[in-house]
Amino acid sequence: MKAIVTGGAGFIGSHIAERLVNEGYSVSVIDSLNTGDKNNLKAISNKIKFIKENASQISKLGKADIVFHEGIYSSTPMYRKDNTLVGKAVSEFIAVLNYCVKNKCKLVFASSSSIYNGYPPPHNEEMIPKVKDFYTEARYSMERLAELFNQMYGLQYCGLRYFSVYGDREESKKEFANMVSQIIWKGLLDKELIIYGDGTQKRDLTNVADVVSANLLAAKSGENGIFNVGTGISYSFNEIIEKVEKAMGKKIKRKNIANPLKNYVDIVHADTKKSMEKLGFSAKIKPEEGINAALEYYRKLKKVPDIF
Ligand SMILES: NC(=O)c1ccc[n+]([C@@H]2O[C@H](COP(=O)([O-])OP(=O)(O)OC[C@H]3O[C@@H](n4cnc5c(N)ncnc54)[C@H](O)[C@@H]3O)[C@@H](O)[C@H]2O)c1
Repeated sequence: MKAIVTGGAGFIGSHIAERLVNEGYSVSVIDSLNTGDKNNLKAISNKIKFIKENASQISKLGKADIVFHEGIYSSTPMYRKDNTLVGKAVSEFIAVLNYCVKNKCKLVFASSSSIYNGYPPPHNEEMIPKVKDFYTEARYSMERLAELFNQMYGLQYCGLRYFSVYGDREESKKEFANMVSQIIWKGLLDKELIIYGDGTQKRDLTNVADVVSANLLAAKSGENGIFNVGTGISYSFNEIIEKVEKAMGKKIKRKNIANPLKNYVDIVHADTKKSMEKLGFSAKIKPEEGINAALEYYRKLKKVPDIF
């Protein structure tokens, strides 16, 4: 089986590529290296094909059996700064969709729990998105286009709505990294952590290894549609900081400031029923275990990002 991972030099994409190699797939990665880093692929660099291109150039990699599409600008603030990224993400996605139709390959692509902003928890796939920011507009457009390609051309696809993914290899994302990485970095650097509001906002922390498992299950399933990839448990920022402090054995300096962001997400909390029933996916890694593993990785780096 030949697999292509767009955005495969990024945080999640590199973990997907590595698991695919370990499972015997022939793997090609296409990445613009915008937030990604080839260093993320060093363990498998001699076993994969890599090209530095935008995802729209996917056909340069020849025919594949399965595509994992992670390669878009990956964070809400990027789109706030440049809202033309919405058009770029969508037009590149159309190139990926056309490629998959032409080559009759299944598409598994990243979507986001940001789609649920404005809804009370738990968040299930039946909720009709009330788009509140440019990044979510791109994600929702991508979901609708995949469904349209399914109806018009029989495209086989799974769109996975990731919930707060954390783990190792986030250093090249810098200020766009998950809060777990950012808390660990502040702790290692002994610097002050800035928290928007009182820290009671909640996140459904999902370990990157579980996200990879969800991708593989989606690829192998005969299912089409949109699926949550979360744990079904959410923790407040204050609780997450306490978990990191416990793992590090030290207190982290904190400063709470008024939240400057409009349409900020207060809580994300996955309803996991559909992905459990249809894909057989359930998250396995407890936050304590995932935080310890990430901490061990970041402790070994020569330096961690010093952001803000
Ligand atoms: N990390 C999370 O919590 C989370 C949550 C929801 C959704 N997602 C989505 O998951 C995907 C992977 O995110 P990540 O956390 O690994 O971030 P990341 O920034 O590490 O990964 C994105 C990768 O795509 C590459 N890229 C960006 N634009 C590209 C383009 N046009 N063509 C080719 N490559 C391109 C980047 O260089 C990077 O390697 C993204 O689509 C992101 O929006 C992530």
